[in-house]
Amino acid sequence: MTLPPLILPPPPFRRSASGAGRFAGIGGRAGLALVIALTATAALAQGDPKRGQEVFQDQCSGCHVLTGQGFAAPPLAGVYGRKAGSADFQYSDAMKKSGIVWDDTSLSHFLADPSQAVPGTAMTINLSDPQQRDDVIAYLRTLSPASK
Ligand code: HEC
Repeated sequence: MTLPPLILPPPPFRRSASGAGRFAGIGGRAGLALVIALTATAALAQGDPKRGQEVFQDQCSGCHVLTGQGFAAPPLAGVYGRKAGSADFQYSDAMKKSGIVWDDTSLSHFLADPSQAVPGTAMTINLSDPQQRDDVIAYLRTLSPASK
């Protein structure tokens, strides 16, 4: 009986060497920026709407209602995907003219530092914890049927 010849996988060295070379080519700042950008995107996707609801109760519901007319602050159900300053509320001119449409990025910037994102806004509190921002954004997303 003859044994079939032992088939060895092709040596991977050549291809991986050129691959590594190309990878090293985007090293340094560009590579680092890419890694950070990918990490940030992943973090946004990881927001937990359940925890976000708690964040909303603790840190937002003192001013914000979800539906109906807001007195202290605009209603936030449906805010994800909505044009800034377009619900039933007496917004600041700054918010009405901001031209923002609320998505992951714009919400995260605004919540991190409202008056930097929209100079002159009437919202004075911020949410400095990035995880809490991701969570509350994930929660707001669930309240916008079109954006689920
Ligand atoms: C102290 C009261 C207060 C708290 C607490 C507060 N906000 Fe606000 N928020 C406001 C006001 C007032 C506005 C309207 C700002 C303007 O017109 O410039 C606003 C606007 C917003 C907007 C834009 C709404 C739109 O229709 O364009 C979002 C989004 C928002 N807040 C999210 C949050 C979230 C999330 C929290 C909790 C982490 C929070 N806010 C906590 C007062 C508050």
